[in-house]
Amino acid sequence: MPALNASATVVVIGAGAMGAGIAQVAAQAGHPVRLYDNRAGAAAQAIDGIDRQLGRLVEKGKLDAEARSAIVARLQPAEAIEALADASLVIEAIVENLEVKRGLLRQLEALCSADCILASNTSSLSITSLAAGLQHPGRVLGMHFFNPAPLMALVEIVSGLASDPALAQCLYETAKAWGKQPVHTKSTPGFIVNRVARPFYAESLRLLQEGAADCATLDALMRDAGGFRMGAFELTDLIGHDVNYAVTCSVFDAYYGDFRFQPSLIQKELVDAGRLGRKSGRGFYDYAEGAERPHPAELASDASVESCVVEGSLGVAEPLVQRLREAGVNVVRRDGTGLLRVGDAVLALSDGRLASQRAREDGLANLVLIDLALDYAKAARLGISCAAATSEAARDQAVALLQRAGLKVSQLADIPGLAVLRTVAMLANEGADAVLQGVGTAADIDLAMRAGVNYPQGPLAWADAIGLAVVLRTLENLQAAYGEERYRPSLLLRRQVAEGRNFR
Ligand code: NAI
Repeated sequence: MPALNASATVVVIGAGAMGAGIAQVAAQAGHPVRLYDNRAGAAAQAIDGIDRQLGRLVEKGKLDAEARSAIVARLQPAEAIEALADASLVIEAIVENLEVKRGLLRQLEALCSADCILASNTSSLSITSLAAGLQHPGRVLGMHFFNPAPLMALVEIVSGLASDPALAQCLYETAKAWGKQPVHTKSTPGFIVNRVARPFYAESLRLLQEGAADCATLDALMRDAGGFRMGAFELTDLIGHDVNYAVTCSVFDAYYGDFRFQPSLIQKELVDAGRLGRKSGRGFYDYAEGAERPHPAELASDASVESCVVEGSLGVAEPLVQRLREAGVNVVRRDGTGLLRVGDAVLALSDGRLASQRAREDGLANLVLIDLALDYAKAARLGISCAAATSEAARDQAVALLQRAGLKVSQLADIPGLAVLRTVAMLANEGADAVLQGVGTAADIDLAMRAGVNYPQGPLAWADAIGLAVVLRTLENLQAAYGEERYRPSLLLRRQVAEGRNFR
């Protein structure tokens, strides 16, 4: 089914942050838009707000004044819900409450024509249960925008059990015509993004709780090595801990307490204390005026390092070799199992085992594990961890070598999977399970995570680049180290490895 014609009337109900943004997107795409809110004056106020925002774009030269007037002229407030009967598409963005939304849908069903599509912007409610009991449940779908809707590209098109696939396709094409990047998904808790993103927060929270490093260091690793725009602590401070914690709890409960989604006690503490992040002036960081932002911990070494030996392939970390050569380090290559030797130190990419355990099991003296980087050719920082028996002199040599390659080095406690590797492995694992359960295709899941939460790489394509066998081993070792369900590898990951296939 093609996209809705631009002349079709779009109705948006709820003129809060999301409703106003969605109304703006639809009006910008050329639709006559009617905005309704049961708070008197709220819709007109929201339209004024959109007008002011468009005005700022005009000032910056990003929009011409005529276009601004045309967009605003297409936006009309509705005084009463009865004025919405001629809609082709209704998108509701009212309060996140199942009974209230159901009541509204029943009212709309009685009011609108039988071919009007009823879409919900809900981020956590089941589309299946929103549609249940209606005369035409097939026309109820999710159209999940991200905040702020005019700027964020992703729209999840969510189908419940009864949703008509032709209407899902129509919404998909419509979102595309509005300049968005839609993905199809099934009505399952968290849909794609709010489900697959959980480990991004959960692993950093756990690392902090277990004393692996402080917030500033973990955030710096996620940014400078992982390539994420923000680390989990600065991001949750921005989102608001009340909101982020509530989403985690709702996904955890919806999956019957699956430990993969277990909420964090240290985040609950922040919520209990009212330290909600930027909006309350304090979260993991202090936002009071004049408060100093803590610096990430870094190691510095003045050991002199001129050469190193690479045994076998370093796998995903292989670009380090070129980087070292370009820095003037003499790199000797030998056969082997993926180790980098410098002086007395042996460096290796983490495989999810504790450094001390691996040193003992593999007979490696002075072992220094390195963390994952999105791109070892460009990363600005790398995490390391050391076995208990690793000498300080050996660690110094390892640090000096990485410094020669232009890397800042941050040390974590001896913790399995370090920071970036365990996070990316868990993101990929969640993505794999979502594919296995038909929530989305691998391509759509990667697209959703890039367009919805700005990940530098889709988690499944990223796992392919790391090597699925490496990701599987990391998860198995994490599961063994913690003895927890949380790290159990997805059946799909095992299957791909067994079949020698990649996700993408
Ligand atoms: P909001 O609180 O800013 O706005 C909700 C608006 O709906 C208010 O203006 C309220 O007066 C109005 N409203 C409430 N009940 C109504 C009813 N029965 N009839 C008409 N109007 C009614 O909320 P926000 O943040 O815009 O969220 C709206 C929806 O979008 C929720 O379902 C939420 O889960 C979802 N969502 C929110 C995102 C966010 O980041 N805030 C992101 C994606 C989805």
